[in-house]
Amino acid sequence: MNRLDDQRILVTGAASGIGQATVLRLLDEGARVVGADVSADGLAATAAQAAERGTADRLTSLPIDIGDEQSVVAGVRSAVDTLGGLDAVVNAAGILRATHTEQTPLDLWDRILRVNLTGTFLVVREALPALLANPRSTVVNFSSTSAAFAHPYMAAYAASKGGIQSFTHAIALEFGGKGLRAVCVAPGSIKSGITDATPGYVPADADWALFAKLSPVLPTDLESGGAGMGDPSAVAGVIAMLVSSDGAFITGTEIRIDGGTHA
Ligand SMILES: NC(=O)c1ccc[n+]([C@@H]2O[C@H](COP(=O)([O-])OP(=O)(O)OC[C@H]3O[C@@H](n4cnc5c(N)ncnc54)[C@H](O)[C@@H]3O)[C@@H](O)[C@H]2O)c1
Repeated sequence: MNRLDDQRILVTGAASGIGQATVLRLLDEGARVVGADVSADGLAATAAQAAERGTADRLTSLPIDIGDEQSVVAGVRSAVDTLGGLDAVVNAAGILRATHTEQTPLDLWDRILRVNLTGTFLVVREALPALLANPRSTVVNFSSTSAAFAHPYMAAYAASKGGIQSFTHAIALEFGGKGLRAVCVAPGSIKSGITDATPGYVPADADWALFAKLSPVLPTDLESGGAGMGDPSAVAGVIAMLVSSDGAFITGTEIRIDGGTHA
């Protein structure tokens, strides 16, 4: 008997990084998973890894753009149909851009808020009827250490992640009596598509001293592909706990997974 046998879980951001690691971990623990993402190539890579582990028969890939309302409406409906209901949603999809705040164009600000914050809201809104059909259900949203601790040149991203944290607290109260738990993970310094791309986003004249606060205190070369970064599986394991009965009394809060960067 696996911890997540019979669990039906939708994971966004399933094509890369933490979302991909989460899909693989949930499958390993027995869940049936719909992995959703805007990247078809990345979804194929996730499915190939599941096939290597012998779990691909419980994975369905779903193209979705969480920043597009119609895509989310159709995608969540498809996920619910595929799984025959929904026990948990993991909202890992997100984007990061780094700019000087005074040079941030409105359309970039809007895009970051649209995907990260509004996209999380849309997926939750569409999933709620299926989640609330069960006596117990879980929403795991992705905040970030940037929501509570300053990250340079990432004001829009940080604001979107702070908003996700507030949104998560609100729905934890609103639906707790119906058995729905809503929790944020707040990762930091995890090797992924986002962190691999960050140096390319940081302004050319950036003051790199401002990044000095963003270093884990734990050794990172043991488990990860890159020094100074944690492995996505470190977050995936926490999410597996949160959607399982081991997380049964956790709601309306954040779990920080940052190697002690902000200890
Ligand atoms: N890596 C870190 O250190 C870190 C720290 C804090 C928070 N996070 C959060 O973790 C989550 C996962 O990111 P990651 O670090 O694994 O990066 P990643 O880039 O590897 O994964 C993000 C995934 O989201 C998908 N995505 C982007 N826009 C989308 C859209 N409109 N619709 C559907 N899918 C979309 C991407 O295609 C990608 O597969 C994000 O919400 C990110 O903000 C990461």
